[in-house]
Amino acid sequence: MYQNGKVMKKGLLKTSSCEQTQALAARFAKSLRGGEIVFLRGPIGAGKTVFVKGIAKALGLKGSPTSASFSLMKEYKNKKFRLFHIDLFRLEENEVFNLGFEEMLEDEKAIILAEWPDPIRHLLPQDRLEMNFILKEGDNREIELSSLGPVSDICLEALCR
Ligand SMILES: Nc1ncnc2c1ncn2[C@@H]1O[C@H](COP(=O)(O)OP(=O)(O)OP(=O)(O)O)[C@@H](O)[C@H]1O
Ligand SMILES: [Mg+2]
Repeated sequence: MYQNGKVMKKGLLKTSSCEQTQALAARFAKSLRGGEIVFLRGPIGAGKTVFVKGIAKALGLKGSPTSASFSLMKEYKNKKFRLFHIDLFRLEENEVFNLGFEEMLEDEKAIILAEWPDPIRHLLPQDRLEMNFILKEGDNREIELSSLGPVSDICLEALCR
């Protein structure tokens, strides 16, 4: 039923502040069980990292994800979860080395959140939640959601409830 790359469900969220985006992230975090993959797209400053921060905080993970540093990937964990925050801003497919996806995908506690994910889209399973952040006037943002499989369907429904 879930074909390669086929969008199963769509949703649209609106937020008008950083706090509201973090509140959405907290609601989303409640639906996470481990094994989820989220691709976050959208222009610089759209709020992708704010959303990731909100998830890490809501899950009670140590440390706070930051945006584009020199590391392509950082791990935040506790007993229940391992959150991998990936940020591939400005990287091309041939510049991305093996980030260790095999090991992550085998770990049922792993959650993968990737900003600027296109260089790795072929290396991860199809079932992922795609979030497209759109800049609007002032602090307003719209977030388009698409789920590409049964696991990401559950995430989408939690966010759009
Ligand atoms: N509704 C909102 N949601 C999220 N962030 C907002 C909102 N309104 C204003 N902001 C501000 O916009 C900025 C978003 O920055 P953030 O680092 O999350 O962007 P990003 O999408 O990760 O960009 P990059 O592609 O550079 O990583 C922050 O400074 C935040 O305070
Ligand atoms: Mg960012």
